[in-house]
Order: sequence, then structure tokens, then C-alpha cells
Amino acid sequence: MSDLFSESTTGTGERSKELTSLIDGIEAVLPQARQAISAAPDRKAIEQLRVEFLGKKGKITRLNQRLGKLSAEERPIAGKLLNTQRTEITELLEKRTAELESRELDARIAAEALDVTLPGIRPARGGLHPVTRVAREITDIFRGMGFRLESGPEVETEWLNFDALNMPEDHPARDMQDTFYTERGHVLRTHTSPTQLRSMLAAKPPMAVVTTGKVYRHDSDATHSPMFHQMEGFLVDEGISLGHLKGTLHEFLRALYGSEVRTRFRPSFFPFTEPSAEVDIWSEAHGGWMEVLGCGMIHPRVLQNGGIDPEKYGGFAFGLGIDRMTCIKFGIPDLRLLFENDLRFLRQFQG
Ligand code: DAH
Repeated sequence: MSDLFSESTTGTGERSKELTSLIDGIEAVLPQARQAISAAPDRKAIEQLRVEFLGKKGKITRLNQRLGKLSAEERPIAGKLLNTQRTEITELLEKRTAELESRELDARIAAEALDVTLPGIRPARGGLHPVTRVAREITDIFRGMGFRLESGPEVETEWLNFDALNMPEDHPARDMQDTFYTERGHVLRTHTSPTQLRSMLAAKPPMAVVTTGKVYRHDSDATHSPMFHQMEGFLVDEGISLGHLKGTLHEFLRALYGSEVRTRFRPSFFPFTEPSAEVDIWSEAHGGWMEVLGCGMIHPRVLQNGGIDPEKYGGFAFGLGIDRMTCIKFGIPDLRLLFENDLRFLRQFQG
């Protein structure tokens, strides 16, 4: 009944109650929407508002459904109003979306901005290993005295590593140097001395040669590593005496450790030299003499094996442990530190 009544009232020129209430309802939506949309913090909130106002169960849709209750005359009045409100809300949503998008873009541009005036990041710089530094320093000293630098292989024949150096199979010194053998019967050189023979076999005296390189022995503790570095030097000419050897090595040690270095020659034994000696230097830090070198006059049999006439020529030779020299030079307490590649340790020698 009431529906019939309301529909019939429109003809009188007075608004039906339903229309008045619907118009009130419609007019209340826009301020609500305006406020909510302008406060929407992001695009997700905008989407929620679109659903809340314009969605299938949204406020505008629900009001739209009420149009059906109006008379044919009143319906366009409310319908038109509803349309303008819908358009308005759609525009508000679009405007706010555009605003948020441009704000997001600004934020991204600000975040990705590059300050080209900031200082750059320097690439890390490597440095020479302390052993390399000392090896170069040592060879430089000998080159300054007229020695030339040569190198030899780390995998060596037994003949050159032992026999040719006057260390036959049954020689006790051969056992002292605990040897790594390859499957094919070669050895990892246990010392740099075989390079003497390689140089002798390749050239004629007079000759003065130094070599540095890796050598290998089967032991490892605070003062021994299975791989370590040696330098070998020798000189062959006519009329060479022990005096030449002493003078050369003394000069070398002064150049390396300073002119106040105290040196001592001690008789010793090596199969490839005769006579043989070891050289010590005085170490204040150690409070004692420290052995740094083995040396001697090249054994005639070694010269012969190198194709040199021992009647005509003589020579001296010396060998030293570069790692040991490095420890002494820098006061490094444990030789193994040199082979651990700990950057905190190695960085101290950069420069
Ligand atoms: N080759 C010896 C070693 O490894 C060091 C050495 C001693 C080399 C005396 C020499 C020398 O040339 O004359 O222990």
C-alpha cells in the first residue's frame, strides 16, 4: 500500500518521501567520498574506496537500486543526481590516483638519485707477498754484482737433483732431504742446486748465475714447510778462491741487512762443495747467531758433470732459504705464517 501511495504522490508537484530520503542519501555520499579519497595514502586504499563507493555492493550501487521504488516522474530526478555523483567520485578517484602515482615517482627518483660529487670507491690494491719482495731484493743485489738470473724446473730428474751434485744413491745426505717422487720417477726438486748444472751445461765459463724458486721436502713444523723458497748462486771462472766467496757473501749480507751486520763463516759439509761452510748472522732479537746460508767451493766432480774442466776452472756456490731470510728481515716468528695467505698478516707488508 505504501508503495502505491508513494508512487502516486508525484503527480501533485510535491516530492515523495522516498525521493527526499533518496536525495538526502545521495547528497551525503559525496562529502564522505571526497574526504576518504583525499586521505587515501596509497593506490591500494584507492582501490578499496572504489569498491566501497562504486562496486557491485557499493554505496552508489545500493542507492541506484532504490531508484526502482520511485515513480516514473521522480526517477530521472534522482537518477540524474546519482549520475553526477558517480561521475564526480570517479573523477576524484582518478585525480587522487594520479597524485599518488606522481608522488611515488618523485620518491623513486629521489631514492635512485646519484650524487656524482661523492668520492668513488677505490678498487682494492694488491701487494707483493713478503717472500716475493725479499726474493726480488736479494736477486737485485746479486744482479748489481754482475750475476745473471736464470730459472729451472720444479720437477727435476734424480740425476740433476742428486747424482750430478755428488750425492749418489747411498749418500746419507740423500736421506736427509725427504723427497717427493713423481710416478714417472722424477723428483720435486729438494733444493735449487740442480740449476747450477743446468746453467753449466748450457753455457761456458766465466759465468755467474742466481736462481730463485720453490723447493719441496717431506716435512712441516714451525721452521719447515713442505714447500719453501731457495735462492741459489754460483760463479765459475779461472783463479777463483775462497776469498771471492767470502767477499761476495759479506757484501750481499751488508746490502740486505745493513752495513753493521755481523757475519760468521763456519766450516760445514755439503757433498757438492769442498770445502764447505755455513754463514751465520748475529741476531739481536734472537740473542744469538742464526744460520742463513750454505756455501763452498764447487766440488771438481760437479764441475765435471756440468761439462767444465776442473783443472782449468774453479768456482764457488751458495744457497739460502728465502723464507727464513724474510722471517729474519721482518721479525716473523713462525715460518708457516708466510704460507697461510691470511690477508690480515699479508697486508702488513703492503707498500
Ligand atoms: N742445496 C743446499 C740445501 O738445500 C744449500 C746449499 C749449500 C747450496 C751449499 C749451495 C751450497 O750451493 O754451496 O740445503
